[in-house]
Amino acid sequence: MRSYSLVAPAKINLYLEIIGDRPDGYHELVMVLQAISLADKIEISSIEIDAISIKCDHPGVPDNQNNLAYRAAALMAEQFPHAIARYGGVEIKIQKTIPIAAGLAGGSSNAAAVLVGLDLLWELGLTQGELQELGGQIGSDVPFCLEGGTALATGRGEVLSPLANLDQLYLVLAKYHNLQISTPWAYKTYRQQFSHTYVSATQDLQSRRDRVHSGPIVAAVMHQDGAEIGRLLHNDLEKVALPEYPQIQQLRQMIGTQPGVLGAMMSGSGPTVFGLVQSQAEATQVMKTVRGQIPDPELGLWTAKFISQGISLV
Ligand code: C5P
Repeated sequence: MRSYSLVAPAKINLYLEIIGDRPDGYHELVMVLQAISLADKIEISSIEIDAISIKCDHPGVPDNQNNLAYRAAALMAEQFPHAIARYGGVEIKIQKTIPIAAGLAGGSSNAAAVLVGLDLLWELGLTQGELQELGGQIGSDVPFCLEGGTALATGRGEVLSPLANLDQLYLVLAKYHNLQISTPWAYKTYRQQFSHTYVSATQDLQSRRDRVHSGPIVAAVMHQDGAEIGRLLHNDLEKVALPEYPQIQQLRQMIGTQPGVLGAMMSGSGPTVFGLVQSQAEATQVMKTVRGQIPDPELGLWTAKFISQGISLV
């Protein structure tokens, strides 16, 4: 049985600005995305029966079309029917470490790993551009998850410009296990409350993108200035998530005021909060202090490091 094992890292948003609506129902975004060392492990194997089988050690992960990893395999099977005929079906084992529905792109990263794994398993020789195009059909974050590192993302989030690697920064992540935020809810609520701020003319959209591209957050990334990045963290979706979920606001406040923390924010559509620090020792210390102040077993805490790669083989 041929098989490949892959590492599927999570991502955080260092910057997320919603600039407008799109005709396809999504939002026009400008984001700075960062891959981190918190990662799932994905094992992809050929199986004799002509099927897609998902096995996961986490009970909350679906084994059907609701799982982006399943959708990635189904898309590949549809695009390359000769491969299924030649190699049989596929079994995808997911060892979950990234919390689910957390704003960390865990599902998107699993899907990205399936694309890379099937390209290898089926000896397709797809280019990075072809993988990106397929990834974009599965979810807005999948193209970034393939690339990893640090990138400016525009469009739905699938149009990427790589930025300087920031692999000297560390973070602590905090998420209540019993708190999950649906991404469609976050964007829908934002639209209800803030659509009056949206721009729509092509020229205005471009000038908003340019403003970020040549603005302070990208400059801070390019200078690898952790303190400035921490100061400039921004996420428009906090405007809907924080008032609705005071626990997120409380975590953000607590983490943001710990010694050594350069800045704290909610990632993506939440509810995970992260705090940036300069070293693993500081990340461990912040994690211990937060654990001491919130002994609730429902609070999950992790430390991680910024990384410069996306999907990689084990
Ligand atoms: O692309 P993805 O499946 O990750 O998006 C999940 C949901 O988030 C979409 O159905 C949409 O409601 C919202 N979304 C959006 N604009 C984006 C990305 C996501 O409105 N650029």
